[in-house]
Amino acid sequence: SILEMEVEQINKGKYEHYMQKEIHEQPESLTTTMRGRLIRGGSCKAKSVLLGGLKDHLKTIRRSRRIVFIGCGTSYNAALAARPILEELSGVPVTMEIASDLLDRQGPIYREDTAVFVSQSGETADTLHALEYALENGALCVGITNTVGSAIARTTHCGIHINAGCEIGVASTKAYTSQIVVMAMMALAIGGDTMSKQARREAIIDGLFYLPNKVREVLKLDREMKDLAKLLIAEQSLLVFGRGYNYATALEGALKVKEVSLMHSEGILAGEMKHGPLALVDESLPIVVIATRDACFSMQQSVIQQLHARKGRLIVMCSQGDAAYVCLGGSCRVIEVPQVEDCLQPVVNVVPLQLLSYHLTVLRGYNVDQPRNLAKSVTTQ
Ligand code: G6P
Repeated sequence: SILEMEVEQINKGKYEHYMQKEIHEQPESLTTTMRGRLIRGGSCKAKSVLLGGLKDHLKTIRRSRRIVFIGCGTSYNAALAARPILEELSGVPVTMEIASDLLDRQGPIYREDTAVFVSQSGETADTLHALEYALENGALCVGITNTVGSAIARTTHCGIHINAGCEIGVASTKAYTSQIVVMAMMALAIGGDTMSKQARREAIIDGLFYLPNKVREVLKLDREMKDLAKLLIAEQSLLVFGRGYNYATALEGALKVKEVSLMHSEGILAGEMKHGPLALVDESLPIVVIATRDACFSMQQSVIQQLHARKGRLIVMCSQGDAAYVCLGGSCRVIEVPQVEDCLQPVVNVVPLQLLSYHLTVLRGYNVDQPRNLAKSVTTQ
């Protein structure tokens, strides 16, 4: 009806689509996610995080034999992005499960496990069934959802709300970045206050504090991503190479592109390049390589060299000021992003790829908020 259409326009504000609004809202949604949870200390107080929903269970989690992340789609990717920092700060082995696959295998879950269920809606059937399965097996079950009162929030023993605000676009954007931030805060909380890691913890807390502004900065690439989308509009396929903290960015960037723009796209672990994907490289297939500064930078430089040697059509995402280091012979396109603490870099790096998939979709004339065949919340198995 006309009234519904008007209400929708009011909800979208100055934006044309919900996905666009939700991408541009991220500086605010990230701020809301962190509100009241980051303690930056006074003169004598240490920097720390406070997660009310988790604090009575931290001891149990620290003593668990492993932490297993369980989710689907974008929520799985968010957990994958947080995995390295959780391993580093907690010292507990962290494993990953796609909810349906865990159920298909009836994979082992033990009483000594902490199972963390990540779901924007809190209603995804596969994730909910995996939760029931983990409860039967006696694991401590933690929920990370964006929906207060959702099935997963109610059924877990404890948890954290991501507080990103209502997300309407079927493709998850602001929930993804808020999930990563929540899981980074969870890693800080589980890590506790060991002296040896204090400097690292404080750097991450400072990094979290500055993160909304860095995201505001990276959103200025909107125009540039639209131009890139124009260049890619008629392509059949797009590859995205990442590793380390940004393996998840590669998977999530490719997921965004395929789910909304209906272009084939694949996220590839750069370390696996020689074991298959290299065969696809030619002069026409566009390849995004994520090569921002972190411990994997030099390895990504060598990946770029190898792709370049095979005349790959490269689009390199690098840290500001690094274009000359990564762009060999000036033949590739560069996306320069602000540098943040390594474990938070996936939050910044995904944004240009969200913008790219948004513009690709609009230019290709597809429905960006309700992609063909997909649903926001998949409540059947
Ligand atoms: C559906 C949505 C995705 C989402 C996935 C998991 O496939 O289209 O955007 O990532 O479900 O949803 P959840 O609510 O559990 O995060």
